[in-house]
Amino acid sequence: MCGIVAYVGSSNAIPILLDGLNRLEYRGYDSAGIAVARAGGIDVRKAVGRIANLAAEIQKSPVSGTVGISHTRWATHGAVTRENAHPHTDKSGRLHLVHNGVIENYQTLREQLQERGHEFHSQTDTEVLAHLVGEAFDKGGARDSAALVEAVRAALRQVIGTYGISVVHADVPGMLVGARRGSPLVLGIGKHEHFLASDVSAIVSHTREVVYLNDYEIVALQADGFEISTLSGSGADFHVSTVEFDAGSVEKGKYPHYMLKEIHEQPNTVRDAMRGRLSAEEATAILGGLNMTNADLRAVDRIVLAGCGTAFHAALAGEYILESLAHIPVECEFASEFRYRNIPFQRDTLVFVISQSGETADTLAALRESRRKGHRTLGICNNVASTIARESDGGVYMHAGPEIGVAATKSFTSQLTIFVLLGLLLGRIRHLSHSDGLNIISELEKLPDLVARTIELETQVAAIAKKYAKANNFLFMGRQAHYPIALEGALKLKEISYISSSGYPSAELKHGVIALITEDTPSLFIAPQDAVFEKNISNIEEVKARRGPVIAIGTEGDTALAKICDDVILIPEAPHYLTPILATIPLQLLAYHIANELGCDVDKPRNLAKSVTVE
Ligand code: F6R
Repeated sequence: MCGIVAYVGSSNAIPILLDGLNRLEYRGYDSAGIAVARAGGIDVRKAVGRIANLAAEIQKSPVSGTVGISHTRWATHGAVTRENAHPHTDKSGRLHLVHNGVIENYQTLREQLQERGHEFHSQTDTEVLAHLVGEAFDKGGARDSAALVEAVRAALRQVIGTYGISVVHADVPGMLVGARRGSPLVLGIGKHEHFLASDVSAIVSHTREVVYLNDYEIVALQADGFEISTLSGSGADFHVSTVEFDAGSVEKGKYPHYMLKEIHEQPNTVRDAMRGRLSAEEATAILGGLNMTNADLRAVDRIVLAGCGTAFHAALAGEYILESLAHIPVECEFASEFRYRNIPFQRDTLVFVISQSGETADTLAALRESRRKGHRTLGICNNVASTIARESDGGVYMHAGPEIGVAATKSFTSQLTIFVLLGLLLGRIRHLSHSDGLNIISELEKLPDLVARTIELETQVAAIAKKYAKANNFLFMGRQAHYPIALEGALKLKEISYISSSGYPSAELKHGVIALITEDTPSLFIAPQDAVFEKNISNIEEVKARRGPVIAIGTEGDTALAKICDDVILIPEAPHYLTPILATIPLQLLAYHIANELGCDVDKPRNLAKSVTVE
């Protein structure tokens, strides 16, 4: 969603800010803006649409300076207009502010400010914040950095909602202020320069030394130093971390799109999800991050998995994997529903929240609600510095590296891999024998190669994509653990190609879906050689009987599918708990190549944001 990049140092801020914004493009936005301090004042440039438009605006009417804030906006309050784009200013016009998050009581605050003579020029909640800080600063009298921090503190105390902000004031040159509550903000430490960003990937090309701010913290930064305090006014302890990845990990490299790069990374990312976590000696998985003893794990009699979007689909597949390997009842919940439901949980319920970004507002709220109820709540996250990673009682990191493509790909297969590890660990504490455990480990060790072989099907999948790219409607079907994979395939396609697509358990066909079958509606069946293969064949026959085109994903060596389907993609043979991972890959490639064929912006699909930090 929205992005923040800010800089204070001795270099020209403009290229640094624009480069940072470009690196945040993937998060989704619809307008952008910049405010740069110069002697005696601040210059602002804004543009609707792409960052290139903002760059063109700056070229038309150049600005320069060594201190600046910038923003990409994803509209929540008010239409996509220049006026609503950030930065916003206060009554004096000397303070400028960018904001991620939502100010829930902005309407009340706005009315109060209007009564005190403030005029507003946008429909945003953010403008209220700018006026509040400006008013507090002007009331204070002093025009120095301490006064600006105090003004930010005073303003934020009145606010209900979430924020990550950065503020610059013409009367306090050489200084920026940042603050966060519920919206990530990271401080980058350079040599005689400092950075602020909502996502570390925006600044990692300048520094890997960072401080992840906590909620209710305020940072004042200058070229030669920074100070972190809390909203209540006390000093804050902080920890300087080194970013795990380098600038190269957030580049496309030889690939035309991040999504394709990330699909191709999967042999490595599934390997990284398992690295150091398999013990042949104990024939089990070692997941120390869970912070639970075997006795604790043995006592678990129910598991709840919560997430949104792709992470929710991973949870649904995880349900099958955990139930079959560990024989523990599992339930999946949309995180957005979980937070408002009052589910009667047994005492020994273990809750996992699943989130690539670790910042999804609904998933974070589910985590907090579950912990509030006293359940041990663990996270399965990719972003190790995320709020979910920090607030959960423990968990498992994906170690998949930054995922930039808006459509989640490698994070999904990492999540599935982690569910197999969890199934192995919990199963070994229950009914799986030593040799069962060794068997699973040996299959897991083959997984990266099987994933690599599946990716080699790309040329074939691309040809199929070309054939069906003009379809207006697509159906995806599968049974058991492949039903969530069908959902995920449908989600990938609709997200990046805008083709209406939906996923179903194959047997649901007869209960209504079959009404959609026409000669122009392709159905994709995930039908590997498994216990329900024959059932899938019957469902395929039902579609073919109505002249519906069928693409099938089967197992290498299969000859039955080719006899009845229009197109067949054969993936390597694997045990039932790994096939969902392999079956996912052709679906990712299909969506990618269809979207590409249609000329869609694969990495930045319309209306979507990479990390959904508002409810
Ligand atoms: C789909 C997609 C979204 C995310 C969802 C949750 O391709 O990217 O559906 O999966 O917004 O995001 P995280 O995993 O970051 O919580």
